[in-house]
Amino acid sequence: MLIFTIIALHCVVKPGLQRIEEFVNDKNQGKSRFYMDNRRPIDSKRRYPSFTQQPWYYGDGSDFEAIPSWMKQQAKKDNPYESESNVRWKFLKTASSRKPDDLLKRKPEASSESQEIDADLFKNEYYKDFQKFIREHNKVYTNSREYRWRFQVFVKNMKELKEMQDNRSNLVFGIGPFSDKTDEELSKRLIPHGYRFIIGEGDSAPLKIEDSDFPSREGRPQQIDWRTKGAVTRVKDQGDCGSCWAFAVTAVVEGQNAIHNKTLVSLSEQQLIDCDHDNSGCNGGYRPYAFKYIQRHGQTTDKLYHYTARAQNCRHIKANRVHINDYKWLGTNEEKIADWVSHHGPVSFGVNVTKPMYNYKSGVFNPSPEDCRQKSLGAHAMTIIGYGELDGEPYWLIKNSWGTHYGIDSGYLRMKRGVNSCGLADAVYTAIINK
Ligand SMILES: *[C@@H]1O[C@H](CO)[C@@H](O)[C@H](O)[C@H]1NC(C)=O
Ligand SMILES: *[C@@H]1O[C@H](CO)[C@@H](O)[C@H](O)[C@H]1NC(C)=O
Ligand SMILES: *[C@@H]1O[C@H](CO)[C@@H](O)[C@H](O)[C@H]1NC(C)=O
Repeated sequence: MLIFTIIALHCVVKPGLQRIEEFVNDKNQGKSRFYMDNRRPIDSKRRYPSFTQQPWYYGDGSDFEAIPSWMKQQAKKDNPYESESNVRWKFLKTASSRKPDDLLKRKPEASSESQEIDADLFKNEYYKDFQKFIREHNKVYTNSREYRWRFQVFVKNMKELKEMQDNRSNLVFGIGPFSDKTDEELSKRLIPHGYRFIIGEGDSAPLKIEDSDFPSREGRPQQIDWRTKGAVTRVKDQGDCGSCWAFAVTAVVEGQNAIHNKTLVSLSEQQLIDCDHDNSGCNGGYRPYAFKYIQRHGQTTDKLYHYTARAQNCRHIKANRVHINDYKWLGTNEEKIADWVSHHGPVSFGVNVTKPMYNYKSGVFNPSPEDCRQKSLGAHAMTIIGYGELDGEPYWLIKNSWGTHYGIDSGYLRMKRGVNSCGLADAVYTAIINK
């Protein structure tokens, strides 16, 4: 079951909320216990990584003070030539060897000069694009300082965008809803790769579907798009909350419900965030736990239990709950996964996120394996809702939860199929509703 231990799962977190809520040194056990969401200590019976063997990546940097000093010392020892802020970055944010972005360290300064916008700014070649970006994405900046700061970040991102553009393919990157965000902010929105180690797996690891239960490949259509069959709800927006796990799982259950009960109903991610106490609300989640919760309790509708992008107390809304019978792991063979999808509907998966994913506009996205390993900002879960080929290139059609300004078709993307792109085939899970 090594596969389950290497798959990390999650995603976008509210900058303010994404913090180590409380770090309690449990002297009796000589172990640190870790509280998330101010709600619930992580089960002390579960396995934890050893901090010394495996650096602990969590939080947004503002919580460095909350970390026990022996852990800080360890981090400094591992990085003797780095300044504390760099150590902090490395320690908390990412397993990659990426250096902190210079821009990030340069906070906007309060000076009289910055009260007025430079004449330079208007002359900048990206100024018009920035104006357009602000209009299209309804950006509101609180003052001229922030405005200037955002413009600097935007210009830097535009320069990177040029480099991303791979002229050999029809893959297109462009200005998107995240174009004024720093790398630090983008990675803040992602759950670091160690989440699975933190929460452990318990007895929730899904069983693999028997090979004999896969539908036959014979007659599998060249392409499939479950939107055209009424099995996909509108694109949603998780906002600044690390809840992609809930969106990915919910889209699968919505699909199964649509296929088996012939009614397409938008279900409640918020219920999972508030009530699935095995997971961590806006601080991330492990999809099998969420499926297990739905199997036990059912999932009510989005209409009855609205999304708020923050963790709240669980509301016990019993009405209109959709139930599933089981949840399964589909294995890592993408041909078989396609067989399954063509026959049974959307499935959820996890993937390492690299920066170009934020700027994806069209084409078939397929970052290099090196970038996926070394330049990933964090992990993210989404839902495969179909597949096909674009100019001979096989792809998965994917529903994201980053709002309707993202990607193709207002909220979707295509990723390369058949090459385990950024680990997308490593942890594909689905819900089962018996007929
Ligand atoms: C794509 O073309 C642009 C301009 O023609 C060039 O600056 C850039 O380096 C090229 N990118 C790649 C990945 O070849
Ligand atoms: C199943 O379909 C029936 C009839 O269309 C509908 O009344 C019911 O609410 C649906 N159940 C769920 C769980 O969506
Ligand atoms: C995802 O990123 C982590 C951390 O950088 C890395 O250990 C892992 O190998 C990556 N997975 C893939 C499939 O690239």
